[in-house]
Amino acid sequence: MTESQEMPIPADGQARPQRRIKSFVMRAGRMTEGQQRGLEQGGPLYILPLADQPVDYDQVFGRSAPRTLEIGFGMGHSLLEMAAAAPEQDFIGVEVHRPGVGALLNGVLTQRLTNLRVYDCDAIEVLNRCVADNSLDRLMLFFPDPWHKARHHKRRIVQPAFAELVRSKLKPGGVFHMATDWEPYAEHMLEVMKAAPGYRNLAADGTYVPRPEERPITKFERRGERLGHGVWDLKFEKLA
Ligand SMILES: C[S@@+](CC[C@H](N)C(=O)[O-])C[C@H]1O[C@@H](n2cnc3c(N)ncnc32)[C@H](O)[C@@H]1O
Repeated sequence: MTESQEMPIPADGQARPQRRIKSFVMRAGRMTEGQQRGLEQGGPLYILPLADQPVDYDQVFGRSAPRTLEIGFGMGHSLLEMAAAAPEQDFIGVEVHRPGVGALLNGVLTQRLTNLRVYDCDAIEVLNRCVADNSLDRLMLFFPDPWHKARHHKRRIVQPAFAELVRSKLKPGGVFHMATDWEPYAEHMLEVMKAAPGYRNLAADGTYVPRPEERPITKFERRGERLGHGVWDLKFEKLA
């Protein structure tokens, strides 16, 4: 991964080719027994290797079903709940934090889910290298690292080139769903997405959508609620 670079929103609204953003820091962390079990037993079954050509996910899942990809699933609570609630759909999670990957896989094993697979590496790499264009029904980005300090804003994953990368991977009519509890990041997301070509904002008033039923409440959201903070959901549909 190269150094991160500033990605200003260009005046013409056109996204430039994807430049590298390092949107995460690798955190060391001790693993619980469950997380270790998840990695050891679930890893060989459910972790997909980073490929160099588009992956045939119909073959991976053994069927053709609506497909959702979540970037940065953290400990995997939302993804696990959503996958368990929708066995007729397939889910792909991407997370660099190993204990989180272990926690999710432990849940997959316990609940015997067959509709979930995982990448344990940078989501930008996964999108660029593994996911075919026009192949996702939904892409979810819930509570991404807000990178509060101005000098770190360039590390925010939501940038014009990222919006274009996501658009290219969604099917026409597919939805990019974001949520954040940090208002300045919500405003940044809205600004980037409004300028991104090829999308339609699903919010009636052109800003944020009401909290969608299908998004489970995460610990980040609960903490935000306790602190009296708001949560902002954004949903943008890829135009045909
Ligand atoms: C603030 S946490 C939120 C986790 C979870 N979505 C939730 O709501 O609880 C953001 C997560 O995104 C992951 N992340 C950030 N950039 C990533 C990337 N480029 N690829 C994969 N994971 C990433 C981080 O490791 C972190 O676990």
